[in-house]
Amino acid sequence: MPTVYYQGEEIECEEGDVLRDVLKEAGLSVHNGSTRTFNCHGLGQCGTCAVQVDGEVSEPSRREEARLWLPPHHPSHDVRLACQTRVEGDVEVTKGSGLWGQHI
Ligand code: FES
Repeated sequence: MPTVYYQGEEIECEEGDVLRDVLKEAGLSVHNGSTRTFNCHGLGQCGTCAVQVDGEVSEPSRREEARLWLPPHHPSHDVRLACQTRVEGDVEVTKGSGLWGQHI
């Protein structure tokens, strides 16, 4: 059973669970500021759930890659969209600063 490490918490989940959902169910948010309310609710469109991940996760989908090409993100930034990322093993998650979490 994979463990997600985020903001000092350790959350166990099932392999294949969506990262954003895992954290949300644990009472944790991957959003900064007003994007906690104003976001696309996991559709992969707003880009505000961007996080840095270190561990075993799914490969990015075309939708995710497309969104990460749009500002303020850039493919050179080492971030993933939590709503499009599936947990495949233990993973450490870091949220950057900025409304989109774009500053890691
Ligand atoms: S919640 Fe909007 S892209 Fe993830």
